[in-house]
Amino acid sequence: MENLTIKKILDDRYSYYLEAQKRGGFYWDEYFKSWVVFDHETINLILKDERFTAKRKSKYIEMFNIDDEYKKALNNFYSKWLMYMDGEEHIHLKRKIQKPISNINREVTQIADTSLNLITNSNIFLGDVDVINNIAIPFTNNFFASLFGINEDDYSNILNKAKDALKFLWVPSHNNEEAIKTITSINNTYSTISEIIENKRYSENRLLDLMIKEVGLNDDSLALIVNLIVDGHDPFLSSVKSYIYFHIKYKVRNIKNKQMVEETLRLECPFPLCARLSKEDLVVKSNKIQKGERVILFISSGNRDLKKYCPADTISELNSSEIQTFGVGVHYCIGATVTRQALLSLAKKMNNLEQLYEINILESKWEDSFGFRTLDKLKLKFIETSIV
Ligand code: HEM
Repeated sequence: MENLTIKKILDDRYSYYLEAQKRGGFYWDEYFKSWVVFDHETINLILKDERFTAKRKSKYIEMFNIDDEYKKALNNFYSKWLMYMDGEEHIHLKRKIQKPISNINREVTQIADTSLNLITNSNIFLGDVDVINNIAIPFTNNFFASLFGINEDDYSNILNKAKDALKFLWVPSHNNEEAIKTITSINNTYSTISEIIENKRYSENRLLDLMIKEVGLNDDSLALIVNLIVDGHDPFLSSVKSYIYFHIKYKVRNIKNKQMVEETLRLECPFPLCARLSKEDLVVKSNKIQKGERVILFISSGNRDLKKYCPADTISELNSSEIQTFGVGVHYCIGATVTRQALLSLAKKMNNLEQLYEINILESKWEDSFGFRTLDKLKLKFIETSIV
Protein backbone atom coordinates (compact mmCIF):
# COMPACT_ATOMS: atom_id res chain seq x y z
CA MET A 1 0.00 0.00 0.00
CA GLU A 2 1.36 3.40 -1.00
CA ASN A 3 2.05 5.57 2.03
CA LEU A 4 -0.22 8.56 1.30
CA THR A 5 1.05 10.47 4.32
CA ILE A 6 4.60 10.39 2.94
CA LYS A 7 3.27 11.41 -0.48
CA LYS A 8 1.44 14.41 0.99
CA ILE A 9 4.46 15.43 3.04
CA LEU A 10 6.73 15.28 0.02
CA ASP A 11 4.23 17.23 -2.11
CA ASP A 12 4.24 20.15 0.32
CA ARG A 13 5.70 19.46 3.75
CA TYR A 14 4.78 22.72 5.44
CA SER A 15 1.16 22.83 4.26
CA TYR A 16 0.75 19.27 5.49
CA TYR A 17 2.10 20.28 8.90
CA LEU A 18 -0.47 23.08 9.16
CA GLU A 19 -3.25 20.66 8.29
CA ALA A 20 -1.93 18.16 10.86
CA GLN A 21 -1.68 20.86 13.57
CA LYS A 22 -5.30 21.81 12.87
CA ARG A 23 -6.28 18.15 13.36
CA GLY A 24 -4.88 18.37 16.90
CA GLY A 25 -1.24 17.64 16.08
CA PHE A 26 -1.15 14.17 17.68
CA TYR A 27 -2.95 11.11 16.28
CA TRP A 28 -2.62 7.57 14.93
CA ASP A 29 -1.57 7.35 11.27
CA GLU A 30 -2.69 4.22 9.45
CA TYR A 31 -0.09 4.52 6.69
CA PHE A 32 2.80 4.65 9.13
CA LYS A 33 1.09 2.30 11.57
CA SER A 34 2.46 4.77 14.13
CA TRP A 35 1.48 7.72 16.26
CA VAL A 36 2.44 10.99 14.59
CA VAL A 37 3.10 14.21 16.50
CA PHE A 38 3.24 17.71 15.01
CA ASP A 39 2.87 20.16 17.88
CA HIS A 40 5.82 21.64 19.79
CA GLU A 41 4.52 20.93 23.29
CA THR A 42 3.72 17.24 22.77
CA ILE A 43 7.02 16.64 20.96
CA ASN A 44 8.86 18.11 23.97
CA LEU A 45 6.79 16.04 26.35
CA ILE A 46 7.43 12.72 24.59
CA LEU A 47 11.13 13.31 23.93
CA LYS A 48 11.61 13.95 27.65
CA ASP A 49 9.48 10.97 28.73
CA GLU A 50 11.53 7.97 29.89
CA ARG A 51 8.66 5.60 29.06
CA PHE A 52 9.72 5.92 25.42
CA THR A 53 12.93 4.45 24.05
CA ALA A 54 15.18 5.48 21.19
CA LYS A 55 16.42 1.89 20.93
CA ARG A 56 14.43 0.94 17.91
CA LYS A 57 16.83 -0.28 15.24
CA SER A 58 16.74 -3.99 16.11
CA LYS A 59 12.95 -4.11 15.68
CA TYR A 60 13.35 -2.28 12.37
CA ILE A 61 16.15 -4.58 11.14
CA GLU A 62 14.12 -7.62 12.21
CA MET A 63 11.46 -6.69 9.62
CA PHE A 64 13.87 -6.83 6.66
CA ASN A 65 13.82 -9.68 4.25
CA ILE A 66 17.52 -10.47 4.72
CA ASP A 67 19.58 -13.38 6.05
CA ASP A 68 20.08 -13.72 9.79
CA GLU A 69 23.86 -13.24 9.61
CA TYR A 70 23.29 -9.82 7.95
CA LYS A 71 20.71 -8.90 10.58
CA LYS A 72 23.25 -9.74 13.26
CA ALA A 73 26.02 -7.67 11.64
CA LEU A 74 23.70 -4.67 11.20
CA ASN A 75 22.36 -4.94 14.73
CA ASN A 76 25.86 -5.08 16.10
CA PHE A 77 26.79 -1.83 14.36
CA TYR A 78 23.65 0.24 14.99
CA SER A 79 23.33 -0.88 18.63
CA LYS A 80 26.52 1.13 19.24
CA TRP A 81 25.14 4.23 17.53
CA LEU A 82 24.49 6.84 20.24
CA MET A 83 21.21 7.98 18.69
CA TYR A 84 19.74 4.46 18.98
CA MET A 85 21.00 3.63 22.46
CA ASP A 86 19.27 4.13 25.77
CA GLY A 87 19.49 3.92 29.55
CA GLU A 88 22.73 3.62 31.50
CA GLU A 89 24.77 2.49 28.49
CA HIS A 90 23.78 5.65 26.59
CA ILE A 91 24.38 8.01 29.51
CA HIS A 92 27.79 6.44 30.18
CA LEU A 93 29.01 6.82 26.59
CA LYS A 94 27.55 10.30 26.17
CA ARG A 95 29.30 11.50 29.32
CA LYS A 96 32.60 10.20 28.01
CA ILE A 97 32.29 12.11 24.79
CA GLN A 98 31.14 15.32 26.49
CA LYS A 99 34.62 16.39 27.65
CA PRO A 100 36.36 16.27 24.24
CA ILE A 101 33.33 18.01 22.70
CA SER A 102 33.38 20.79 25.33
CA ASN A 103 37.13 21.25 24.79
CA ILE A 104 36.80 21.51 21.04
CA ASN A 105 33.80 23.86 21.30
CA ARG A 106 36.24 26.54 22.50
CA GLU A 107 38.19 26.25 19.24
CA VAL A 108 35.26 26.16 16.82
CA THR A 109 35.11 29.90 16.01
CA GLN A 110 38.78 30.05 15.16
CA ILE A 111 38.62 26.84 13.07
CA ALA A 112 35.53 28.04 11.19
CA ASP A 113 37.01 31.51 10.57
CA THR A 114 40.19 29.97 9.16
CA SER A 115 38.22 27.62 6.86
CA LEU A 116 36.04 30.47 5.63
CA ASN A 117 39.03 32.72 4.96
CA LEU A 118 40.65 29.97 2.94
CA ILE A 119 37.60 29.69 0.71
CA THR A 120 36.96 33.40 0.30
CA ASN A 121 40.59 33.96 -0.69
CA SER A 122 40.18 31.70 -3.69
CA ASN A 123 38.62 34.30 -6.00
CA ILE A 124 35.32 32.55 -6.52
CA PHE A 125 33.18 35.62 -6.02
CA LEU A 126 32.91 36.72 -9.60
CA GLY A 127 29.54 36.73 -11.38
CA ASP A 128 27.37 33.65 -10.94
CA VAL A 129 28.42 31.39 -8.07
CA ASP A 130 27.35 27.80 -7.44
CA VAL A 131 27.13 28.12 -3.66
CA ILE A 132 26.89 24.40 -2.94
CA ASN A 133 30.01 23.31 -4.84
CA ASN A 134 32.09 26.44 -4.37
CA ILE A 135 31.29 27.48 -0.81
CA ALA A 136 29.16 25.08 1.26
CA ILE A 137 30.91 21.77 0.46
CA PRO A 138 34.52 23.09 0.58
CA PHE A 139 33.78 24.95 3.83
CA THR A 140 32.10 21.94 5.47
CA ASN A 141 34.86 19.52 4.47
CA ASN A 142 37.70 21.84 5.43
CA PHE A 143 36.00 22.77 8.71
CA PHE A 144 35.33 19.17 9.84
CA ALA A 145 38.75 17.90 8.70
CA SER A 146 40.32 20.66 10.78
CA LEU A 147 37.96 20.10 13.73
CA PHE A 148 38.84 16.40 13.87
CA GLY A 149 42.50 17.19 13.10
CA ILE A 150 42.81 15.02 10.00
CA ASN A 151 43.63 15.97 6.43
CA GLU A 152 40.83 16.75 3.98
CA ASP A 153 41.54 13.74 1.74
CA ASP A 154 41.23 11.39 4.71
CA TYR A 155 38.01 13.08 5.83
CA SER A 156 36.44 12.86 2.34
CA ASN A 157 37.57 9.26 2.08
CA ILE A 158 35.84 8.37 5.39
CA LEU A 159 32.61 10.03 4.26
CA ASN A 160 32.70 8.21 0.94
CA LYS A 161 33.18 4.88 2.65
CA ALA A 162 30.35 5.62 5.12
CA LYS A 163 27.79 6.62 2.47
CA ASP A 164 25.87 3.33 2.35
CA ALA A 165 25.99 2.86 6.13
CA LEU A 166 24.38 6.28 6.58
CA LYS A 167 21.87 5.80 3.77
CA PHE A 168 20.68 2.65 5.49
CA LEU A 169 19.46 4.76 8.39
CA TRP A 170 16.98 6.68 6.24
CA VAL A 171 15.83 4.25 3.53
CA PRO A 172 12.74 2.34 4.66
CA SER A 173 13.07 -1.14 3.08
CA HIS A 174 15.99 -3.44 2.41
CA ASN A 175 17.06 -6.66 0.73
CA ASN A 176 20.16 -8.87 0.96
CA GLU A 177 22.01 -6.93 -1.71
CA GLU A 178 21.52 -3.61 0.12
CA ALA A 179 22.41 -5.23 3.44
CA ILE A 180 25.72 -6.48 1.98
CA LYS A 181 26.45 -3.00 0.60
CA THR A 182 25.75 -1.50 4.03
CA ILE A 183 27.93 -4.01 5.86
CA THR A 184 30.76 -3.47 3.36
CA SER A 185 30.42 0.27 3.92
CA ILE A 186 30.53 -0.18 7.72
CA ASN A 187 33.65 -2.37 7.52
CA ASN A 188 35.41 -0.02 5.10
CA THR A 189 34.63 3.01 7.28
CA TYR A 190 36.10 1.25 10.33
CA SER A 191 39.26 0.18 8.52
CA THR A 192 39.77 3.65 6.98
CA ILE A 193 39.54 5.33 10.40
CA SER A 194 41.67 2.61 12.04
CA GLU A 195 44.39 3.07 9.40
CA ILE A 196 44.47 6.85 10.03
CA ILE A 197 44.78 6.23 13.76
CA GLU A 198 47.43 3.51 13.40
CA ASN A 199 49.56 5.76 11.22
CA LYS A 200 48.96 8.70 13.56
CA ARG A 201 47.71 10.95 10.78
CA TYR A 202 45.90 13.27 13.19
CA SER A 203 46.81 16.44 15.05
CA GLU A 204 47.24 16.79 18.77
CA ASN A 205 44.36 18.38 20.73
CA ARG A 206 41.88 18.28 17.89
CA LEU A 207 38.68 16.25 18.25
CA LEU A 208 39.96 12.84 17.09
CA ASP A 209 42.97 13.06 19.41
CA LEU A 210 40.81 14.32 22.31
CA MET A 211 38.34 11.46 21.80
CA ILE A 212 41.06 8.81 21.67
CA LYS A 213 42.59 10.21 24.87
CA GLU A 214 39.19 10.13 26.59
CA VAL A 215 37.64 6.86 25.39
CA GLY A 216 40.66 4.77 24.35
CA LEU A 217 40.64 2.44 21.36
CA ASN A 218 38.61 -0.69 22.04
CA ASP A 219 35.74 -1.81 19.71
CA ASP A 220 33.09 0.23 21.50
CA SER A 221 35.09 3.44 21.54
CA LEU A 222 35.99 3.03 17.88
CA ALA A 223 32.25 2.76 17.15
CA LEU A 224 31.72 6.02 19.04
CA ILE A 225 34.49 7.74 17.07
CA VAL A 226 33.03 6.50 13.75
CA ASN A 227 29.60 7.71 14.89
CA LEU A 228 30.84 11.21 15.66
CA ILE A 229 32.94 11.61 12.52
CA VAL A 230 30.20 10.64 10.07
CA ASP A 231 26.99 11.74 11.81
CA GLY A 232 27.23 15.51 11.64
CA HIS A 233 28.40 16.12 8.08
CA ASP A 234 25.10 16.01 6.16
CA PRO A 235 22.92 18.06 8.53
CA PHE A 236 25.75 20.56 9.01
CA LEU A 237 26.22 20.98 5.25
CA SER A 238 22.48 21.40 4.86
CA SER A 239 22.37 24.14 7.49
CA VAL A 240 25.31 25.98 5.86
CA LYS A 241 23.38 26.08 2.57
CA SER A 242 20.16 27.19 4.31
CA TYR A 243 22.01 29.89 6.23
CA ILE A 244 23.50 31.46 3.07
CA TYR A 245 20.09 31.30 1.37
CA PHE A 246 18.19 32.94 4.25
CA HIS A 247 20.91 35.51 4.82
CA ILE A 248 20.50 36.80 1.27
CA LYS A 249 16.73 36.33 1.14
CA TYR A 250 16.07 38.27 4.35
CA LYS A 251 19.00 40.71 4.43
CA VAL A 252 16.73 43.75 4.41
CA ARG A 253 15.37 42.85 7.84
CA ASN A 254 18.61 43.69 9.67
CA ILE A 255 18.34 40.87 12.16
CA LYS A 256 21.21 40.17 14.58
CA ASN A 257 23.50 37.31 13.51
CA LYS A 258 22.70 35.07 16.47
CA GLN A 259 18.96 35.31 15.89
CA MET A 260 19.42 34.84 12.16
CA VAL A 261 21.30 31.58 12.80
CA GLU A 262 18.65 30.39 15.25
CA GLU A 263 15.78 31.27 12.93
CA THR A 264 17.48 29.53 9.99
CA LEU A 265 17.85 26.38 12.07
CA ARG A 266 14.22 26.67 13.18
CA LEU A 267 12.78 27.15 9.70
CA GLU A 268 14.88 24.58 7.88
CA CYS A 269 15.47 21.53 9.98
CA PRO A 270 17.75 19.05 8.11
CA PHE A 271 16.40 15.98 9.97
CA PRO A 272 12.65 16.60 10.01
CA LEU A 273 11.79 13.85 12.48
CA CYS A 274 12.83 11.74 15.45
CA ALA A 275 11.22 8.41 16.35
CA ARG A 276 10.67 6.49 19.61
CA LEU A 277 9.03 3.26 20.75
CA SER A 278 6.76 3.02 23.75
CA LYS A 279 8.23 0.81 26.50
CA GLU A 280 4.82 0.22 28.16
CA ASP A 281 1.09 0.83 27.73
CA LEU A 282 0.54 4.48 28.55
CA VAL A 283 -1.62 7.54 27.98
CA VAL A 284 -0.31 10.83 26.59
CA LYS A 285 -2.74 13.72 26.19
CA SER A 286 -5.72 11.31 26.16
CA ASN A 287 -4.14 9.07 23.49
CA LYS A 288 -3.70 5.44 24.58
CA ILE A 289 -0.35 4.22 23.34
CA GLN A 290 0.41 0.52 23.55
CA LYS A 291 3.72 -1.05 24.44
CA GLY A 292 5.95 -1.36 21.35
CA GLU A 293 4.05 1.21 19.27
CA ARG A 294 6.11 3.70 17.33
CA VAL A 295 5.79 7.46 17.71
CA ILE A 296 7.09 9.74 14.94
CA LEU A 297 7.88 13.24 16.15
CA PHE A 298 7.99 15.82 13.38
CA ILE A 299 10.42 18.29 14.92
CA SER A 300 10.38 20.43 11.76
CA SER A 301 6.65 20.88 12.36
CA GLY A 302 7.22 21.70 16.06
CA ASN A 303 9.57 24.42 14.82
CA ARG A 304 6.70 26.03 12.91
CA ASP A 305 3.95 25.49 15.47
CA LEU A 306 1.61 28.49 15.33
CA LYS A 307 0.99 28.22 19.08
CA LYS A 308 4.71 28.68 19.78
CA TYR A 309 6.05 30.98 17.06
CA CYS A 310 4.62 34.14 15.58
CA PRO A 311 5.30 34.53 12.72
CA ALA A 312 5.95 30.81 12.33
CA ASP A 313 6.86 30.58 8.67
CA THR A 314 9.39 33.35 8.28
CA ILE A 315 12.51 34.79 9.92
CA SER A 316 11.73 37.12 12.82
CA GLU A 317 13.49 38.94 15.66
CA LEU A 318 10.42 38.22 17.81
CA ASN A 319 10.61 34.44 17.96
CA SER A 320 11.94 32.77 21.06
CA SER A 321 14.46 30.00 20.96
CA GLU A 322 13.64 26.43 22.13
CA ILE A 323 13.89 25.14 18.60
CA GLN A 324 13.64 21.37 18.15
CA THR A 325 16.13 21.04 15.27
CA PHE A 326 18.75 19.31 17.46
CA GLY A 327 16.25 17.12 19.27
CA VAL A 328 15.15 17.38 22.91
CA GLY A 329 16.05 15.57 26.14
CA VAL A 330 18.71 12.90 26.70
CA HIS A 331 19.45 12.48 23.00
CA TYR A 332 19.99 16.20 22.44
CA CYS A 333 22.52 16.60 19.63
CA ILE A 334 26.14 16.56 20.68
CA GLY A 335 27.09 18.76 17.69
CA ALA A 336 24.62 21.59 18.36
CA THR A 337 27.18 24.06 19.75
CA VAL A 338 29.70 23.22 17.02
CA THR A 339 27.03 23.92 14.40
CA ARG A 340 25.76 27.16 15.97
CA GLN A 341 29.30 28.57 16.43
CA ALA A 342 30.33 27.70 12.88
CA LEU A 343 27.15 29.29 11.49
CA LEU A 344 27.90 32.44 13.49
CA SER A 345 31.30 32.62 11.79
CA LEU A 346 29.54 32.17 8.47
CA ALA A 347 27.14 35.00 9.35
CA LYS A 348 30.08 37.35 10.01
CA LYS A 349 31.68 36.32 6.72
CA MET A 350 28.43 36.98 4.85
CA ASN A 351 28.22 40.45 6.45
CA ASN A 352 31.77 41.16 5.26
CA LEU A 353 31.03 39.95 1.74
CA GLU A 354 28.00 42.25 1.61
CA GLN A 355 30.33 45.20 2.12
CA LEU A 356 32.13 44.22 -1.08
CA TYR A 357 29.38 42.81 -3.28
CA GLU A 358 25.74 43.15 -4.09
CA ILE A 359 24.50 39.56 -3.75
CA ASN A 360 21.28 38.19 -5.22
CA ILE A 361 19.69 34.75 -5.45
CA LEU A 362 19.61 33.46 -9.04
CA GLU A 363 18.27 29.95 -8.47
CA SER A 364 17.32 27.71 -5.55
CA LYS A 365 15.73 24.27 -5.22
CA TRP A 366 14.91 22.17 -2.15
CA GLU A 367 15.21 18.41 -2.05
CA ASP A 368 12.91 16.68 0.36
CA SER A 369 13.32 12.98 1.03
CA PHE A 370 11.07 12.61 4.08
CA GLY A 371 13.92 11.80 6.51
CA PHE A 372 16.20 14.57 5.27
CA ARG A 373 15.71 18.00 3.74
CA THR A 374 18.29 20.19 2.07
CA LEU A 375 18.89 22.73 -0.70
CA ASP A 376 19.81 20.86 -3.82
CA LYS A 377 20.63 23.95 -5.86
CA LEU A 378 21.70 27.43 -4.82
CA LYS A 379 23.10 29.90 -7.29
CA LEU A 380 23.95 33.48 -6.33
CA LYS A 381 25.03 36.48 -8.36
CA PHE A 382 27.89 38.57 -6.95
CA ILE A 383 28.45 42.08 -8.32
CA GLU A 384 31.28 44.21 -6.92
CA THR A 385 29.74 47.25 -5.21
CA SER A 386 32.28 49.57 -6.85
CA ILE A 387 30.66 48.57 -10.17
CA VAL A 388 27.02 48.88 -8.98
C1 HEM B 1 22.59 21.21 11.63
C2 HEM B 1 23.32 20.26 12.16
C3 HEM B 1 22.75 19.10 12.95
C4 HEM B 1 21.45 18.70 13.13
C5 HEM B 1 20.20 19.32 12.53
C6 HEM B 1 21.46 17.56 14.01
C7 HEM B 1 20.33 16.92 14.47
C8 HEM B 1 20.30 15.99 15.48
C9 HEM B 1 19.10 15.48 16.12
C10 HEM B 1 17.68 15.85 15.77
C11 HEM B 1 19.50 14.58 17.08
C12 HEM B 1 18.57 13.82 18.04
C13 HEM B 1 18.04 12.56 17.45
C14 HEM B 1 17.01 11.89 18.32
O1 HEM B 1 16.68 12.37 19.40
O2 HEM B 1 16.48 10.84 17.88
C15 HEM B 1 20.94 14.51 17.02
C16 HEM B 1 21.72 13.72 17.82
C17 HEM B 1 23.07 13.56 17.59
N1 HEM B 1 23.88 14.33 16.80
FE1 HEM B 1 23.33 15.86 15.65
N2 HEM B 1 22.76 17.26 14.33
C18 HEM B 1 23.58 18.18 13.71
C19 HEM B 1 24.95 18.25 13.79
C20 HEM B 1 25.72 17.33 14.40
C21 HEM B 1 27.15 17.32 14.42
C22 HEM B 1 28.03 18.41 13.79
C23 HEM B 1 27.54 16.20 15.09
C24 HEM B 1 28.91 15.68 15.38
C25 HEM B 1 30.02 16.39 15.41
C26 HEM B 1 26.33 15.51 15.53
C27 HEM B 1 26.30 14.34 16.26
C28 HEM B 1 25.17 13.84 16.87
C29 HEM B 1 25.17 12.69 17.76
C30 HEM B 1 26.38 11.84 18.11
C31 HEM B 1 23.86 12.52 18.21
C32 HEM B 1 23.32 11.45 19.17
C33 HEM B 1 23.20 12.04 20.55
C34 HEM B 1 22.50 11.08 21.49
O3 HEM B 1 21.80 10.17 21.03
O4 HEM B 1 22.66 11.22 22.71
N3 HEM B 1 25.25 16.22 15.09
N4 HEM B 1 21.41 15.40 16.06
